[in-house]
Amino acid sequence: MAKVKSKFFCTQCGYESPKWMGRCPGCEKWNTLEEEILATKSIFKRSPTLVSSAKPQSIKSVGSGAFDRYDTQIGELNRVLGGGIVRGSLILISGEPGIGKSTLILQTASSIAKHYGTVLYVSGEESEEQIRMRAERLDAIVDNLFVVSETNIETIETFIDEMKPVLVIVDSVQTLYKEDLSAAPGSVSQVKECVNNLMRIGKLRNIPIFIVAHVTKQGELAGPRVLEHIVDTVLHFEGERTQEFRILRALKNRYGTTSEIGVFEMKQEGLVEITNPSVMFLDSLATSSEGAIVVATMEGTRPLLVEIQALVVPAVIGFPRRTAVGVELNRLNLIIAVLEKKMGLPLSSYDVYVNVVGGLKVEGTFADLGLAIAIFSSLKGVKISTKELIVIGEISLTADLRPVAHLNKMLKEAAKMGFSTCIVPEKIKLEQVNGLVIRGAGNLKTAINMIL
Ligand SMILES: Nc1ncnc2c1ncn2[C@@H]1O[C@H](COP(=O)(O)OP(=O)(O)OP(=O)(O)O)[C@@H](O)[C@H]1O
Ligand SMILES: [Mg+2]
Ligand SMILES: [Zn+2]
Repeated sequence: MAKVKSKFFCTQCGYESPKWMGRCPGCEKWNTLEEEILATKSIFKRSPTLVSSAKPQSIKSVGSGAFDRYDTQIGELNRVLGGGIVRGSLILISGEPGIGKSTLILQTASSIAKHYGTVLYVSGEESEEQIRMRAERLDAIVDNLFVVSETNIETIETFIDEMKPVLVIVDSVQTLYKEDLSAAPGSVSQVKECVNNLMRIGKLRNIPIFIVAHVTKQGELAGPRVLEHIVDTVLHFEGERTQEFRILRALKNRYGTTSEIGVFEMKQEGLVEITNPSVMFLDSLATSSEGAIVVATMEGTRPLLVEIQALVVPAVIGFPRRTAVGVELNRLNLIIAVLEKKMGLPLSSYDVYVNVVGGLKVEGTFADLGLAIAIFSSLKGVKISTKELIVIGEISLTADLRPVAHLNKMLKEAAKMGFSTCIVPEKIKLEQVNGLVIRGAGNLKTAINMIL
C-alpha cells in the first residue's frame, strides 16, 4: 500500500524538514513550519536545464551582453526595470491587496500587445469578464491581448506553446498549481515548483513573464523567500491606499539598478505616470508653518523635493518618545542629541514626532539639516516660509554642516519648483542657479540664525 508522504516547509524561507519543529533552523523564526502532502514520486528532482546545448565556451565568444528589451511605453516602469522588459526575464511584482498590481500589468500588457504582438494574460484571480471590465476602464482593449482564467501550470504552458506570445502575465503565483503535487495552491512547494516552471518556460522560449505575488500583513512576500532568488527582478508596488499615489521600486534587478523609483497616480482611467514627483509631494504645502520644511533627496538619478514635518510636545512621563516616519530613527536620535548638546535645546523632556509627507522614505543624510530645523521650529514656535526656503546638508556630531552628493541637481530642482532661497553647507563650489539665492552655512547654529 502506498503511504502518503508529507514534509514540513518553512513558509518564510522554504526550509524543508521531515518532521515538525517549533523553530525553523533556516531562518530562526518560530511557528513557520507547515505540513504539506507530497506526491509519492519525487517532485524535487532537478529542474530541467535551461539551455539545451550546455557546453562550456570562451566568454569572448558568448553573444554580446546588450539585452534585448521591450519598451513598455510607460516611462516610470521602464526606468525601474532598467530600460524596459528584458526578453526571457522573469519579473515578480508584489504589493498589498488592492494597491494596483493588476492595473499596472494590464496597462503594460495592453501597451506591449499594441506595439509588439500577442500578449497572454493569465489570471487565476479574476474571470475574463472582470478583466475585460477593467480593461475598458483603462482603455486597454487591443487586438493582440488575450486573456484566460486558468491556474494549471501545464495548461498555461500549452497555451504559451500554441500562441507564442511576446509577453506572458500571470496573476497571481499563489493561485497556480501543478497537478502532480498534492499540496494546495499557494503552499510553499506549489509556489516554488510553479515559479521554477515559469522560469524554465520563459528562458527556453525567450519570453518575458510577469508574475504577481501577494504580500503578507507584515509586508513580506507570501511564499518562500527563495522566490526572490529564483526570479530576475522583484518589483514592489507601494503607497497609502487612502492616497492616490503609488511608488514602484525594484528590490532586486539583474538587469538594472535598484535605486530608481517609479511614481504613479491611481485614477479612474488607471495608473498615470508622474514624471515630476516633486510637484506631487509638495502639493499640499502651506505658505508658512511651524515645524515643517522642504528638503531635497535623491531617488536614483532623480532629485526629489519632499516636506518634512516635526512635532515637539512636552513628554508626560518617563522616557520621551521619538517617532520617525520616512526617516531613520537612528538619524533622528543623532540630530536630537546634537540639538540638545550643541544648541542647548531641552529635548530630553519633549516627545519628538517626525513625518515625511507623502509616504516617501528619505535615506542617508540628505534630510539632516531639514530635520534639525523642523524640530527647532516646532519647539520654539518659529514660522518657516515653507514655499520659499529649502535646506540641504548633512550634520556632523560636532554640529558642522557637511555637503551631500548631487547638490547641483537638487538646487536646479528647487529653482524649477519655485523656491527662492536655499541654505547649503558653505565652502563648496556650486553652479549659479537662476532665481535661487544660495546661502552657505558652516554649522547648524549659523543655519538656524539664517531662518530666524
Ligand atoms: N473606478 C475606479 N476609479 C478609480 N480607481 C479605481 C477604480 N476601480 C478600482 N480602482 C483602484 O484600483 C485599485 C485596485 O487595483 P488592482 O485590482 O489593480 O489592485 P491589485 O493590487 O491587483 O489588487 P488585488 O490584490 O486584489 O489583486 C483599487 O484599490 C482602487 O484604488
Ligand atoms: Mg489583482
Ligand atoms: Zn525558515
